[in-house]
Amino acid sequence: MKALHVELLETCRGYLAEDGMQGLSDVCQLLKSEAPRYDWVGFYWMNTPQKELFLGPFAGAPTDHVRIPFGVGICGQVAVSGATLRVDDVAQSENYLACSIETRSELVLPITANGELVGQLDIDSHTLNAFTDDDVHFCELLCALVASVWEPQTPA
Ligand code: SME
Repeated sequence: MKALHVELLETCRGYLAEDGMQGLSDVCQLLKSEAPRYDWVGFYWMNTPQKELFLGPFAGAPTDHVRIPFGVGICGQVAVSGATLRVDDVAQSENYLACSIETRSELVLPITANGELVGQLDIDSHTLNAFTDDDVHFCELLCALVASVWEPQTPA
């Protein structure tokens, strides 16, 4: 893994060890400011009874998508599949919710705690093809860290 990603992961580990789920805002801010091409970083949580995602901590421009029905958009697809989805060019995606007209590519990863899909990490970039395999690996490790401090979240 890239040295920057190792360093970022260690800083995130510290935030989460110190503050648990409260540390996630710092995680979002850190990634947005330090990881190249990460222009919006946020977490969505599952509301399974309502079959929708709701927005948690994020860094970047405010989004209209504070609730997303399962199956709708990139995030909604990951809520159904439970699998990472990397979209190199959002303009080519037929099931996409635009958060910002500047977004060109997107990476969404599932967060699984105690064997259950509980949420996801969503990263938007203003750059086409922004996310490498190394980004995916780094984000998977970050999602595992988040899962280790996970506590149930309630929609606002
Ligand atoms: N683009 C996402 C919606 C969330 S915003 O990017 C913050 C999607 O298609 O699900």
